[in-house]
Amino acid sequence: MLRGLVVCFILGANALEPGCINNWPSRFDYERTLLEKLVYLEQFKSETTAKLAAQQQQMQELYSILRPQAASTYVNWGMQTCPNVTGTTQVYTGQVAGGHYSHAGSGEYICLPNDPEYDQYNDTIDEWRSSLYGAEYETDFINFKALYNHDVPCSVCLSKGKTTLMIPGRISCYTGWIKEYQGYLMGEYYKSNGKGYVCMNKEAESMPSSNAGMNGALFYPVEGRCGSLKCPPYTDGRELACVVCSFST
Ligand SMILES: *[C@@H]1O[C@H](CO)[C@@H](O)[C@H](O)[C@H]1NC(C)=O
Ligand SMILES: *[C@@H]1O[C@H](CO)[C@@H](O)[C@H](O)[C@H]1NC(C)=O
Repeated sequence: MLRGLVVCFILGANALEPGCINNWPSRFDYERTLLEKLVYLEQFKSETTAKLAAQQQQMQELYSILRPQAASTYVNWGMQTCPNVTGTTQVYTGQVAGGHYSHAGSGEYICLPNDPEYDQYNDTIDEWRSSLYGAEYETDFINFKALYNHDVPCSVCLSKGKTTLMIPGRISCYTGWIKEYQGYLMGEYYKSNGKGYVCMNKEAESMPSSNAGMNGALFYPVEGRCGSLKCPPYTDGRELACVVCSFST
């Protein structure tokens, strides 16, 4: 009786079913049913394993779509190349340009590619236009002295999986950030029309054969002037450094 109940239990039948108690299953029926059950379970297991694997892969794909794929670009002012930092590649190299230092309507400093493409144009010099000039170092400061009047190159860099930040007044990055490059803060002469500040790479180069002194957009080191600028921590008359940092997201 006990064996019959155990068998009924294994076979998944209701032990209190009259048939289960009264009709002792033959050994053949018992083994056949057990085998069928095993085959079913085996199949169930392999199907479930395959389904699970497919779902896991689907989830992985969803994650890669949903995960923010950060990337950041910045200009390496004064350099034709991009820093040798993991994840940083060059988008293009070019020359710095901007509005003329003496023009009131000047635009900001921009990095113009060396392989321009034009759409429609008219080569007449027109009055009703905005104008763009090449940029020169106007610098009598440390290694920039040798670059005086030289034209300024630039490169645009892509920092993959990262966000980037220029910090004026620092030569090192804050914890968790990696240095892309460091340099000196530069802008137009204080009596000219400004076009913002940029972080000129401290290893700045010049465009090949370009020391004509034609003027145009110009770069000067930037000094702090105490007053509403807090001193300390800043110092009157001191040239400000800068650093460009990246952070892996
Ligand atoms: C970049 O940096 C790595 C690691 O410091 C060095 O092995 C490699 O030679 C550098 N590449 C260039 C082009 O400077
Ligand atoms: C180009 O501009 C000038 C001055 O505005 C005009 O006289 C000339 O017809 C223009 N040329 C063309 C091809 O449109």
